[in-house]
Amino acid sequence: MVLLMVIQLSDVVVSIKEYYPDERDALMQLRDIVNSTSNLHANWTGPPCYYNQSRWAGIACSNWHVTRLVLQGIHLTGSLPPAFLHNLTFLTKLSFTNNSLHGPLPNLTNLLHLEFLFLSDNHFSGSIPLDYIQLPKLSKLELQHNSLHGPIPPFDQQTLTLFNVSYNHLGGLIPETRVLQRFPQSSYDHNPDLCGTPLGIPCSVSPPPPAGIAPSPSPIPPPFPSKDDKKRNLELWSIVLIVAAAILVPLSVMLVFVCYYRRVRGKEAKGDQPSGESNGEEAKRKPHWSESREDPERTVELEFLDKETPVFDLDDLLRASAEVMGKGKLGTTYRATLDSGPVVAVKRLKEMNILSKKDFVQQLQLLGKMKHENLVQIISFYYSKEEKLVVHEFVPHGNLFELLHENRGVGRVPLNWSTRMSIIKDIVKGLTFLHQSLPSHKVPHANLKSSNVLIQRNNQSCHSKLADFGFLPLLPSRKSSQKLAVGKSPEFSQGKKLTYKADVYCFGIILLEVITGMIPGKISGGNEETVDDLSDWVRTVVNKDWSTDILDVEILAANEGHDEMLKLTELALECTDMAPEKRPKMSEVLTRIEEIERVDKEDD
Ligand SMILES: *[C@@H]1O[C@H](CO)[C@@H](O)[C@H](O)[C@H]1NC(C)=O
Ligand SMILES: *[C@@H]1O[C@H](CO)[C@@H](O)[C@H](O)[C@H]1NC(C)=O
Ligand SMILES: *[C@@H]1O[C@H](CO)[C@@H](O)[C@H](O)[C@H]1NC(C)=O
Ligand SMILES: *[C@@H]1O[C@H](CO)[C@@H](O)[C@H](O)[C@H]1NC(C)=O
Ligand SMILES: *[C@@H]1O[C@H](CO)[C@@H](O)[C@H](O)[C@H]1NC(C)=O
Ligand SMILES: *[C@@H]1O[C@H](CO)[C@@H](O)[C@H](O)[C@H]1NC(C)=O
Ligand SMILES: *[C@@H]1O[C@H](CO)[C@@H](O)[C@H](O)[C@H]1NC(C)=O
Repeated sequence: MVLLMVIQLSDVVVSIKEYYPDERDALMQLRDIVNSTSNLHANWTGPPCYYNQSRWAGIACSNWHVTRLVLQGIHLTGSLPPAFLHNLTFLTKLSFTNNSLHGPLPNLTNLLHLEFLFLSDNHFSGSIPLDYIQLPKLSKLELQHNSLHGPIPPFDQQTLTLFNVSYNHLGGLIPETRVLQRFPQSSYDHNPDLCGTPLGIPCSVSPPPPAGIAPSPSPIPPPFPSKDDKKRNLELWSIVLIVAAAILVPLSVMLVFVCYYRRVRGKEAKGDQPSGESNGEEAKRKPHWSESREDPERTVELEFLDKETPVFDLDDLLRASAEVMGKGKLGTTYRATLDSGPVVAVKRLKEMNILSKKDFVQQLQLLGKMKHENLVQIISFYYSKEEKLVVHEFVPHGNLFELLHENRGVGRVPLNWSTRMSIIKDIVKGLTFLHQSLPSHKVPHANLKSSNVLIQRNNQSCHSKLADFGFLPLLPSRKSSQKLAVGKSPEFSQGKKLTYKADVYCFGIILLEVITGMIPGKISGGNEETVDDLSDWVRTVVNKDWSTDILDVEILAANEGHDEMLKLTELALECTDMAPEKRPKMSEVLTRIEEIERVDKEDD
């Protein structure tokens, strides 16, 4: 058996968790094949066991092993997957009493610890497997009220204290073992073809013992655990200890390094000009947009949107040291450090040359009025025929894309669930505000993607702000709009009219990205294969069986939040619905998320 270990970092505390994947897989088979009134699909997620506890309905554990499987009266329908119990070798109790299961009784080979087997009040058919007489610890067996046929096998386990096969279609002689003889008539009643001493019905013609069930001379298998298993347990534990030691030491070193690295990197230049700051002269190199200065058609100076902000002029901006922060489809963004100290971000828009000054100024003045803690504040802008600049606040700690996907692998500090949740809420708040403030816009944001969610860290928490919003009206053609995130929406691909629901779609994609840790458009497993229509990606990621396996391993490992994640996945699926009118409004999304959070808190 493979021992799976998941390492979780929370601050500096390192704990090692394990569970047995074979046992989990066995339960997954069951979960996915039967229907019931209690939603196992949503409940059976994450690891089944945590030490001696389980968060799964109907499951009990001991030392990380599943020991009880009890699902009674929840309208389970379907037939049990063949052999699914083989790997649940530590099971002591199995009960599916009072459901609607059909098909053959389960094969219990290997279940040497099984004491209680309750399968009454179902629609099981076929015969009682001969193997059941080999269960060494079987103490209670209830099979009444099913549709079982054939003879009763010669049970003779001394451990057996309760036995009931009434209300079936069993036939033949009740085997004359000592154990079976001691149960009363009611254990056998209502089987029209059954005869023998307990029922007080003599068999008219003594039937020959059916082939294969002559009382076996060989004794019951040796009790469990066998030597082999003790040895195996020992091996497991020594592996755990060795691996733990091997990991703990380098990990703490790594942690220190990562913290240091993060801090330093925050201050360092990113992008193309990493050496810019090391040399004072170099740092003051002329920024790329300086040629605009010489543009005779230049019509306005830097225009400030808020008279309260410290004002600088174009000359200041041109003198500032600039580093490329990112190259997007709309243009390149620079980080500019003004001589007087402040740091701002400058976006140099490309391909907007045919844009009139009036349209540009109007739109930027409108966007500059958008003041919200989850929106990047636009400070000023500049228009000339050749050059269009937008100056906005500088948000220091990168973006959500980097946070989710960079440094995957050894040494990465996992992005925990509560941080992810707070980032999601920030996005929703920012977007809701935009949707309420720009009702005249077809698509108020139009370029929502994880790289446009900027991150500001305060101590442990992350605050996020949306960037790059409101540019759709500035783009002249369908071809140029395609570059925006909304260009990936189904309605765009189908050539339909865009509405604010295209933003909701983009939000749904981000939500899935946060939950799964996958890069949108990148099919996992496939090398660099990308899909243009993200709805294909959604369908690939979230297939029929999404409930556990899509979660980012990084958060799956932690015990927290599985409920929330699954409910959010459902929400994400609604947001990414192919039909825009079926997607919820952002204000509704906010309510739903707060609701999900509240319910989860009450549960704890
Ligand atoms: C599953 O349901 C049980 C109660 O039926 C609840 O206590 C438990 O928290 C749920 N677990 C998950 C992972 O939802
Ligand atoms: C789990 O239960 C077993 C007995 O069933 C006990 O020996 C063990 O100490 C328990 N472990 C924990 C962590 O409670
Ligand atoms: C069987 O389950 C149903 C609910 O599914 C419940 O109403 C009923 O009382 C149960 N019957 C017995 C005998 O437990
Ligand atoms: C479970 O329910 C779904 C939809 O309600 C149905 O399509 C499927 O056939 C059911 N499966 C079983 C085993 O009854
Ligand atoms: C039980 O686990 C083994 C080892 O992982 C696996 O090969 C086998 O398919 C599993 N059996 C069942 C019935 O799932
Ligand atoms: C149960 O499974 C075991 C192992 O796969 C097999 O040897 C045995 O024949 C099966 N029993 C029945 C009744 O199918
Ligand atoms: C066996 O089950 C039937 C039906 O539920 C019940 O009436 C009878 O009392 C049971 N007999 C024993 C011995 O448990």
